[in-house]
Amino acid sequence: MQNILKSCEPRKDILTGTFNPEIFTASLAEVIRFYQANQAGMHSIYTDAGQFFTEGTYATDGMKTVINEVFARLSGDGTAPAIHRLETAFGGGKTHTLIAFAHIGYIGDELTPHISHLMEPKWIPQKGDVHVVGIAGNEIPVHKPKGTKLIPYTLWGEIAYQMGGEKLYRQVEDDATAFAAPGKNYLESVFNGKKVLIMIDELALYSARLAAAKADGSEQLAAFLMNLHDYARTRSGISILLTLASTTDAFAKQTLRLAKLLSSITGKKIDSHDSYLPPGPSGCQNHQ
Ligand SMILES: Nc1ncnc2c1ncn2[C@@H]1O[C@H](COP(=O)(O)OP(=O)(O)OP(=O)(O)O)[C@@H](O)[C@H]1O
Ligand SMILES: [Mg+2]
Repeated sequence: MQNILKSCEPRKDILTGTFNPEIFTASLAEVIRFYQANQAGMHSIYTDAGQFFTEGTYATDGMKTVINEVFARLSGDGTAPAIHRLETAFGGGKTHTLIAFAHIGYIGDELTPHISHLMEPKWIPQKGDVHVVGIAGNEIPVHKPKGTKLIPYTLWGEIAYQMGGEKLYRQVEDDATAFAAPGKNYLESVFNGKKVLIMIDELALYSARLAAAKADGSEQLAAFLMNLHDYARTRSGISILLTLASTTDAFAKQTLRLAKLLSSITGKKIDSHDSYLPPGPSGCQNHQ
């Protein structure tokens, strides 16, 4: 067997000593901002969809499974799960997988030559057919920001803003700015029969930040996730992807609480502490 030094050719920037590790920091928010700003700005390996899939992504089995299930659901297959929970230890590829979803969700069939090894062609959405909501739990504010610029500061407000911009946000502003989780009517107004891919990265970190900001912050987050799942369950055009790290990583307490909550609202049991963690990168658990 050949050793790694013989079988792998290092990238040019490593050989020349110009390698910048920052370009390998996967950020969902960066990719969402890139699309929301109409694809303006400098490309990184994460924002250039072609490069991302051809040079930057190894197609793991876990990634292929979850991509097919999510886009099957968005294509109207109600038997595919409404919620997917991506779980790996730190650095296992959760954010990278969400970025793959963001690209496919935003530009779909424009990427066909680069993604046909990842998913069944019949599930590839048409460009513009799916609304993409991507939230990074480490970034969205948990307090009302100062100043006059409209910056959502609740999870449900951010979802509304990404769905319909300022116009929709203003229409649902009372609920969007309330710290109490809104229910079905709000979700109906925000999603309005559209095909929507909702991704929340770093959910446990967000829960920890929210709990530090508001006494019942994590309870309201839990209530919202229950309402959201209840709403999505009966609508095949909605698919939700959440990421949680391992319960042995930071925010272990929040991760375990959220994992238990998601298991209880979806009717799927977890046994004990870490037993629900699938092995390997891009592991996922699916729930109807
Ligand atoms: N399937 C893949 N193909 C190629 N590179 C990958 C793949 N999955 C992850 N990576 C790369 O590995 C690194 C870590 O991945 P990523 O940041 O997605 O992990 P994570 O699970 O989100 O980590 P954390 O728990 O710290 O948020 C990143 O540079 C990412 O681009
Ligand atoms: Mg991550």
